[in-house]
Amino acid sequence: MDNIMNSRAYKAAREKAQALLEKLTLTEKIGQLSQFGNSIYSSDEKKYEDHFREGKVGSFLTLRGAEKTNRIQRDLMNMQRTPIPAIFADDVIHGYRTTFPTPIAQSCSWDPELTARCSAAAAKEAYAGGLKWTFGPMVDIARDPRWGRIMEGFGEDTYLCSRFAAAAVRGFQGDGDAPGKDHLIACMKHYAAYGACVGGRDYNTADVSPETLHEVYLPPFKAGIDAGAATVMSAFNDVNGVPATANRYLLTDVLRDRFGFKGFVVSDAGAVGELINHGFAEDPKDAVCKAFGAGVDMLMAGDMYNDNLPALLEEGKVTMEEIDRSVLSILTVKYLLGLFDEPFVDPDGEKVFFCDEHLALSREAGAQCAVLLENDGILPLKGVENIALTGPLTHPCGKAHLLGGWCGIADPERTVTIEEGLKAAIPDANIDVIPGATFVHMEPEEIAAIAARAARSDVIIAAVGEENGMAGEAGSKSDLELCGSQEELVLALCATGRPVVCLVSAGRPLVLSKFKGKVAALLNIWQPGTEAGNSVADLLTGKVNPSGHLTTSFPYTTGQVPIYYNHPSTGRPADGHWRFESKYMDCPIGPLYPFGYGRSYTTFEYSDISLSSDKIAPDGELKVRLTVTNTGEYDGAAVVQLYVRDLVASRVRPVKELKGFKKLFLTRGASSRVELSLPASGLAFVDSKLEWVVEPGRFKLWVAEDSADERCGFDFTVTNS
Ligand code: BGC
Repeated sequence: MDNIMNSRAYKAAREKAQALLEKLTLTEKIGQLSQFGNSIYSSDEKKYEDHFREGKVGSFLTLRGAEKTNRIQRDLMNMQRTPIPAIFADDVIHGYRTTFPTPIAQSCSWDPELTARCSAAAAKEAYAGGLKWTFGPMVDIARDPRWGRIMEGFGEDTYLCSRFAAAAVRGFQGDGDAPGKDHLIACMKHYAAYGACVGGRDYNTADVSPETLHEVYLPPFKAGIDAGAATVMSAFNDVNGVPATANRYLLTDVLRDRFGFKGFVVSDAGAVGELINHGFAEDPKDAVCKAFGAGVDMLMAGDMYNDNLPALLEEGKVTMEEIDRSVLSILTVKYLLGLFDEPFVDPDGEKVFFCDEHLALSREAGAQCAVLLENDGILPLKGVENIALTGPLTHPCGKAHLLGGWCGIADPERTVTIEEGLKAAIPDANIDVIPGATFVHMEPEEIAAIAARAARSDVIIAAVGEENGMAGEAGSKSDLELCGSQEELVLALCATGRPVVCLVSAGRPLVLSKFKGKVAALLNIWQPGTEAGNSVADLLTGKVNPSGHLTTSFPYTTGQVPIYYNHPSTGRPADGHWRFESKYMDCPIGPLYPFGYGRSYTTFEYSDISLSSDKIAPDGELKVRLTVTNTGEYDGAAVVQLYVRDLVASRVRPVKELKGFKKLFLTRGASSRVELSLPASGLAFVDSKLEWVVEPGRFKLWVAEDSADERCGFDFTVTNS
């Protein structure tokens, strides 16, 4: 596959990097391996000058803005003996200034192209702000919503996450030969198995079998590498006892030798020093020896490499060859970025912030990513005159919450609130915005007062969920219920007898089981971004028909987690027939809403489904064809999902796995013929030698609306040859 890491531009960049490398002193080489944050500027002016003059800085993080980055770049290059521009990096996760839906939300669009577009727009703004490198996408599989960082990734499924990983990489880096203007290099993180932290507790150990590691957690990284990702970030956690940041097997044997990664690896912030806390390294020098030796090329952040690599080299614990290899990969990326030709950015470029095109994309994406969970027909709202609007997310101070985590560079003040969006969309309606709802405990009298006032309207819209700081890094939670008294508030609103449209904005799946059968509609809007209110209004009024589908199971109760659809088959599958099954006694067997689930204002029918054959060779391909018809009253988009189960294999296989999907828009009454390809290679799994194998045998296939839909099932066989 063509990408920036195997292009002609890459080859030329490497040659130039090689020539430059030969001119560098040891100090300058090691300087290229060192990244610094704001702190280098704080007080120690001498240190700053020394570092610049000695060439001890290769990259900066979280320094932003054209003026600032240009100024620092100029100082750095003027002072260095050999001028080498720094790469400015930051966490551009779902936008720079204009904010798009969080990645978990984006994945619910089931439209990787949408993510490519959002990433490209984010890159364009970030580039204008002086950045060249984003610490994204996060491609960690997350099966446990207690883990707050579930909001930064693309959900629980490896196939889907891999598709989005590749799209995000392409979006950030561009489709050309080299990233160039308006693009950033991508950094896939957190390598590896960070999402497998036990109990969903951030930074916790990941104890995963080698087979699961290779089959579930690593493929999204491989997909991003195949799309040309130039950098990878090592994770904080240990994987089966070896910290990811000192894990030679992962960073060298797998990443480079097996996956063919040619870029460079940066540690996560402080992760090298944390090897001491892990009890894996004696002191900073030992930590550097282990991390660098394992394959961490660049240190985020500080002087540990500058201070320790020279001595380690002298002692023979690291080699000049290893140092040269790391420096070469960093310099190559700098040349590839065109940094030597144009180390500065045009301050006028910042005009692109919040440009109409990006705002329109934010609005579109916000609507594409929301998932309609319940609707008794109240939505879309038609001819409603009096609307009550309440809930903590309608509070004017709640603007940042609608953006979600990792929006440090955004401007919350630019967020369109739900109130503003609704008022613009339905100017003739009376919208009574009822204050007083909070994320914390509310007294019963306060709730009663809100409900009494809301009861005077025809429809009640309640916007509840999480503050943005409740998910994201260090945002792990032991309880997935709505915080404070929000649940009581929604139930009190339902008790008024007025129809309640409940909007849920959060960075993770929340437990919403008490609302089933009570609310008239339930719309999970995630954290939609700058245009939040407009996106929501488009959905509520039917200007846009919801088409989002879940990419992570919504548990019935917190105690069910981790609950994910593609779990291995047990010897006691649960179907409620008897006691001795694999299930909990005190809650339903399945989740509240399964992976793949999402409703629409219209309905779709699948018909004339056929398989190209009921047998395929281990290197063959199956075509699944069907007709999709929009049978309802509204135009809308369907998401056709293809699941497979390997019925008998030499290892226990998941009960079901997503192997393909197609999103298609159909006007009311329209039909379309759809074809999905299933290459036999997609049926491979990792055997005990950690090789991907396609085993002959019987398979089941479903063409489905979600992972629990088994109406259209077919059998097929993979033959011996
Ligand atoms: C996070 C990374 C992030 C880095 C730099 C760390 O704490 O784990 O995801 O890229 O900070 O901001």
